[in-house]
Amino acid sequence: MAIKLNDKFLNGFVGEHELGAIEDSVKSAHAKLHNKTGLGSDFLGWVDLPVNYNREEFDRIKAAAEKIKASCDILIVIGIGGSYLGARAAIEFCKSPYYNNLKKDTPDIYFAGCNISAQATAELLSICEGKDVCLNVISKSGTTTEPAIAFRIFRDMLIKKYGPDCIRDRVFITTDRQRGTLKAFADEMGCETFVVPDDCGGRFSVLTAVGLLPIAVAGIDIDAMMQGAADAREAYSVCDLAANDCYKYAAYRNILHNKGKKTEILVDYEPCMTMMNEWWKQLYGESEGKDNKGLFPASVVFTTDLHSLGQYIQDGERLIFETILSIADTGAVVTVPGDEANVDGLNFLTGKTLEYVNAMAYKGAVIAHTDGGVPAMILELDSRTAYDFGYMVYFFEKACGISGYILGVNPFNQPGVEAYKKNMFALLGKPGYEDAKAELEARIAD
Ligand code: PA5
Repeated sequence: MAIKLNDKFLNGFVGEHELGAIEDSVKSAHAKLHNKTGLGSDFLGWVDLPVNYNREEFDRIKAAAEKIKASCDILIVIGIGGSYLGARAAIEFCKSPYYNNLKKDTPDIYFAGCNISAQATAELLSICEGKDVCLNVISKSGTTTEPAIAFRIFRDMLIKKYGPDCIRDRVFITTDRQRGTLKAFADEMGCETFVVPDDCGGRFSVLTAVGLLPIAVAGIDIDAMMQGAADAREAYSVCDLAANDCYKYAAYRNILHNKGKKTEILVDYEPCMTMMNEWWKQLYGESEGKDNKGLFPASVVFTTDLHSLGQYIQDGERLIFETILSIADTGAVVTVPGDEANVDGLNFLTGKTLEYVNAMAYKGAVIAHTDGGVPAMILELDSRTAYDFGYMVYFFEKACGISGYILGVNPFNQPGVEAYKKNMFALLGKPGYEDAKAELEARIAD
């Protein structure tokens, strides 16, 4: 088992009987997920995805990754939200946050279309000068504004670099099986396409072509990743809180929420988790934050953030609990060197590994925070392999589905993300939004 839940630091915050009291809700959530009888049941493709994916497409993903590796220095992944966070999280977790600076035989990978920043776009255009470039455009709807604008800009760059015929060989498109402007574009230009399955929402799609193609280009073993997810699927199919840490995590979140906690902070001690935190925040924020309900998902990377948010966590309003993700083997050993002069007084650490020092920081912080009234759960992850990543993704996805059903929301829709788009389109003068434009402009003028 790649992940273990350690609930020792919930002592004094959650009693054994409270787990018993929520057990029926967990069972009902399990039945809804597995019998497809709950809200949003059209979007449960991710539940069996690790054992029920398109093998032919999986092989094409590997072949396309090889083609991309052979034909470019830079792969630009264009997408936003669920269409980019998973791949970026996997690359940083399994390889490094410094992936682009590593000595490697795989292309650098940059992400675009996840903002509308002129500065970020201009810098990436300049980084591409003199380099061979491929694009992987990812959008389920094919109409999302940010990636659509980025695709236009980087497509224009490719055409200026190589001429119009390059699009077929240098642009790889991941989108809906049949619908949408991207699909139509791909068909017209003859680009290779991959499918975002109908029954997987963006935030549940990292183990489809959405995540797997960029992940494979980075040289990460996607077979091992799917195996990790498949083993997690098996481990978390049993509806028994005592035997299912994934369900226990979902249960504890809801117990703590019901007791007045408003914010869950995902805490890690490794910067390679930074983008995984972002993926996790989207998963839980978009799945549970609706109907005026839901925990607010926040994250910190310690010890860095102990020097910024540490004060609030220790001493601020008592609305928070921590879920600490600790990685047993980070795959690196660095030892503190000796210094005869001992000018910094650090000789008590001579010969100690940074992993050891980090572990002591973690133990010190969790005791201090629980003493300060912040409950903590610990998720103990074995290591940073592709297998662990697949396992962890499935753990959090399944826990999210169960948790959302316990909360009483539809965990698989995201009605709230449309509101800003309508206003933005109106203000930009998109045809069809004329009335809203006048009204919004009047409100801004006021
Ligand atoms: O989880 C989601 O559904 C969203 O975050 C989407 O992934 C995001 O809005 C991008 O949508 P699309 O893939 O249609 O461009």
